[in-house]
Amino acid sequence: MKTQLASTGGRPPCRPCSERCPPMEWLLVETHIALFKARLRRFLGRLEELASRSRVGFARPVGSASTPAQRVFESLGPWTSRFLIDGVCLGGPHDFTSDPRVHHLAQRVGSLNGKRILELGALEGGHTLELARAGAAVVAIEGHPANFARCLFIKRYFRLESVEFVLADLRSVEFTRFGRFDAVLNSGVLYHMNAPWDLLERVGKVAQSMLLWTECAPTHSRLETVEVCGNRLEGYWYVEGPIDHPLSGKQPLSFWPTRESLEHMLRFTGWSAVTWLDFNPDSMYGPSATIWAERALA
Ligand SMILES: C[S@@+](CC[C@H](N)C(=O)[O-])C[C@H]1O[C@@H](n2cnc3c(N)ncnc32)[C@H](O)[C@@H]1O
Repeated sequence: MKTQLASTGGRPPCRPCSERCPPMEWLLVETHIALFKARLRRFLGRLEELASRSRVGFARPVGSASTPAQRVFESLGPWTSRFLIDGVCLGGPHDFTSDPRVHHLAQRVGSLNGKRILELGALEGGHTLELARAGAAVVAIEGHPANFARCLFIKRYFRLESVEFVLADLRSVEFTRFGRFDAVLNSGVLYHMNAPWDLLERVGKVAQSMLLWTECAPTHSRLETVEVCGNRLEGYWYVEGPIDHPLSGKQPLSFWPTRESLEHMLRFTGWSAVTWLDFNPDSMYGPSATIWAERALA
């Protein structure tokens, strides 16, 4: 008897003559459980499929590359910016379609349609694409060759006929070789300069208005004073990341002025009309400034 129990998995042995035989009931219960488990597995599988479909192109920035353009895009990475390539969101975390700086520029310039814009530090062409979509003709300068290669991909893929990307160093490039501009987009790059006053002065030779977004010296930092042609500027020396990093400046130290010194610097380099659009003391690295600046042509 003991042996029989063991061979039926602990259940009572089958008695086929009995109509309501307990082993048959047991079998029925087991069948129902198996069916329920199978249905649950199918339901969970379907849920997962739906969730993964909604991630591609929406919440999850990186889809998988399957078309030739997507494969070229991925081969140029890693990217900082995010772009929609053949219907799939690819690239890094920064979505320039919702970036407010082009919007600020458009508000000040009026319509960007038909305007000539000089863009400084184009990164991977995210702002450039938005400027071109708004109808602007853009000369966009970028100093890191890997970023520049990504910019060229964006120009080709989005057929940006009105955009010229230029590989050049903003610390020395002669802006007058590109002609005159309706405005400058000077975003995220002044704080990568060791002599930001020099960039502000040179860019004033080709445009009379500029949207500036930059960081100022953090309040906790040890301030130092530099003197430029009799002008005293307070700020701190920011230590750049590796020189070949795509988000870095091209020399080891950059000068970040205090808020007051930034305004002073703009004025003594000829940007006489300074309108503060925003000042955010809680920005990630230092207080951030959004400024609309105007001047007479130098
Ligand atoms: C922080 S990213 C800002 C990108 C974009 N303009 C924005 O506002 O999001 C700085 C960009 O400036 C470029 N850059 C830094 N120093 C440069 C220099 N001396 N000449 C040209 N580009 C430079 C970097 O390669 C990078 O693309």
